[in-house]
Amino acid sequence: MTDHIHYGHVFHLSGSPLITEADDALVSIPDGALVVGDDGRIAYCGERSGVPTEFASAEQHEHPGGFLLPGFVDTHIHFPQTFAGASYGGGQLLEWLDRCIFPAEARLADPGFARTAAVEFTRRRIAAGTTAMMAFGSAFPAAQDALFEETLSAGLRIVSGRGIQTVGDESARPLLTSEEEAIRLTREEIEKWHAADTGDPATALVHVAIVPRFSLSVTAETLRNLGELYDEYRDRGVYVHTHLNENNRPGTGEIDITKKLYRCDSYLDTYDGRFLPWSEVGGKSLLGRRTILAHAVHCQDAEIARMAETGTSIAHCPISQLFLGSGTMPWKRTVASGVNIAAGTDVGGGDEWLIPRVLGDAFKQHISEPGDAGVSMHPAEMLFLGTLGGARALDMEDRFGNLDAGKEADFVVIEPDAPLAAVLANAVRSDDPLLARDQTLFTLLMGIRESSIAEVYVQGRRITAP
Ligand code: GUN
Ligand code: ZN
Repeated sequence: MTDHIHYGHVFHLSGSPLITEADDALVSIPDGALVVGDDGRIAYCGERSGVPTEFASAEQHEHPGGFLLPGFVDTHIHFPQTFAGASYGGGQLLEWLDRCIFPAEARLADPGFARTAAVEFTRRRIAAGTTAMMAFGSAFPAAQDALFEETLSAGLRIVSGRGIQTVGDESARPLLTSEEEAIRLTREEIEKWHAADTGDPATALVHVAIVPRFSLSVTAETLRNLGELYDEYRDRGVYVHTHLNENNRPGTGEIDITKKLYRCDSYLDTYDGRFLPWSEVGGKSLLGRRTILAHAVHCQDAEIARMAETGTSIAHCPISQLFLGSGTMPWKRTVASGVNIAAGTDVGGGDEWLIPRVLGDAFKQHISEPGDAGVSMHPAEMLFLGTLGGARALDMEDRFGNLDAGKEADFVVIEPDAPLAAVLANAVRSDDPLLARDQTLFTLLMGIRESSIAEVYVQGRRITAP
């Protein structure tokens, strides 16, 4: 085995900053070097001129004009919607689910089709440089097997779990199970796939999540049973993933219907084992530092505070929120609560697989918030959302998310395509070196497309498409 050195412009966030500290943590090394040891860990990240002599015999990889960034982390993407991006549903969330998404997801009952989807899903995420993700899974165990198998054979990271639905209308019927089956299948998936590659969650590439689709797709009984199940598996590093406070159409939207059905004022409470009609005493909470809630667009202060208190993360999915008319997450207020925020494509509610496209839309949305709420996100905050914040949301920040020495070497080599290279070469830059640094990172993040993602590495291994 050999050590490898990659030469390029390094951008990452060093240490363990909060998103509000990302600016200070931003590292930019135009003439940088990244040394990956034969153990797949980062042995050195710094100036090219400072590479320790012990790596003199390492294999050299020059990337002239290229950039070295941590691998992108997608904290909310739907595997069974691989072919459902940009589906026309003639309405907002609930109509779109009924008309487009449930029928699309039902097709994965066919194992051959599910395998095709898993191969394509894996190919698309590699093309987008997504090295780690929380993937909302298929209802069908064989489809989940295909997803985990393809992920492992490519050498990528994933946290995923079958989407659990126990109630729904006609269009959801193929995706429904009984209450008992929901728990049995989830337990079987955990036993089969959680840390299946190494046997140890601390070193594994694959992990399992408990994934109730959202409160409207399950019953209070399902949530209570899943709370019990999570309590049983929490210490083994199992995850929880679902949707929260996405569509606020008055009366007929997701949030109003949820509160009415569960007879509560707080959507979050339905996941927190509190105020459920089936019990006066409440149930076990699904919240915690390995829980990711997608969207959280329309939260009350108490809900965001509770997420922050429990270490629960938000998967921010601005592309999908725009597509489904879900509104804009209040950026300043959410950040101020201290809750961890990461980025999600939400494919197929989102029609882009590339995390930097999510970051670009986040920037555009939050600068457009009305009045004092509008904010121009710092490019370091954008980088945080797409890398370190994602690793934190997956509770694996100690393993990847930045390029600090000792971390597992998950990174992407970006070799700008011709249009981006032309912009980078000719854009006006400030005389102030720090502002010039920020301007370069911003232009890079806004301008990256799949065509600029040249190489993708996980644990120091080059990942190639299936
Ligand atoms: N809420 C419940 N299911 C879904 C889904 O598939 N996509 C989105 N965006 N929201 C949901
Ligand atoms: Zn979603």
